[in-house]
Amino acid sequence: MFSVMEIMTEAFFVWGQTGYAILKAAELEGLEMNWGPIDRYAKSLIKEAGHHIRHSFFTGIEVSAKSSENDLVTNIDKEIEQFFIRRIRQNFPDHRVMGEEGFGDTVETLEGVVWFLDPIDGTMNFIHQKRNFAISLGIYLDGVGVLGYVYDVMAGDLYSAEKGEGAYLNDIRLLPLKETAVEESVIGVNASWVAPNRYAEHEPMIELVNRCRGTRSYGSAALELTHVAAGRIDAYLSMRLSPWDVAGGMVIANEVGAVATTMDGSALSLLGQETFVVANPGLHRQLLGEFIRLKK
Ligand code: IPD
Ligand code: CA
Ligand code: CA
Repeated sequence: MFSVMEIMTEAFFVWGQTGYAILKAAELEGLEMNWGPIDRYAKSLIKEAGHHIRHSFFTGIEVSAKSSENDLVTNIDKEIEQFFIRRIRQNFPDHRVMGEEGFGDTVETLEGVVWFLDPIDGTMNFIHQKRNFAISLGIYLDGVGVLGYVYDVMAGDLYSAEKGEGAYLNDIRLLPLKETAVEESVIGVNASWVAPNRYAEHEPMIELVNRCRGTRSYGSAALELTHVAAGRIDAYLSMRLSPWDVAGGMVIANEVGAVATTMDGSALSLLGQETFVVANPGLHRQLLGEFIRLKK
């Protein structure tokens, strides 16, 4: 497994070493870090990994359950995470990786450079639909998102952003978000959160569903963040997401003016599971003020 990929990425490895050397030199001289080499390297890894995932439909996928029968993982999730981690460790040995499948580092604080990786976000879609899943990657420096990527593998669409440099869908720059009131908004929300649940009161959520223009649920938090960033939906909320689900998409969404916080309005810690809401600023305020009532 990965033999062709390993050979193909060897070239990137050599090139990545150069990028690493450039970064180290910049750090040593106290210059602002040059993220260009890391950005190009991350994109090359994502494209190679996407190729491997698409190929896996021809070679077979082994599915197993994690915490429950509905919490699925495949051999491909694991292989892709291992592929990234091998490459990151070779090229950037002082960076840390927090990955969903547990092959990365135990990250308890966010100083330095941390890569947040979800090798396949939307594993259930990957298994059941063979579409609507993504590779999600966020690269943070001292807890601040610098580079973000969400790759819609089957569509071949790469959403990316560098902090302060705008967000892109492939080569097309995404536009700043427009403000929307609830009545003219399409809200990304999973039906579970409109039923009784242990995180938030469901009655105001029913009110939200009744008052908004419509709801959507795509089954991949990373893709839902890109739908917000691209203006296809106006908000996305969930009661329980992990750092690797949102770290990449948040960098992208921030670049078009979205606000992303926990449901009590705090910045995400990115160190464990948290509630999550992202929207244009006015709608974000309205959601927190009128529709989200967290249980104690
Ligand atoms: C899941 C997806 C899903 C969200 C879950 C996540 P996974 O990620 O993003 O949309 O509702 O909370 O765990 O398990 O497919 O990587
Ligand atoms: Ca995920
Ligand atoms: Ca995953």
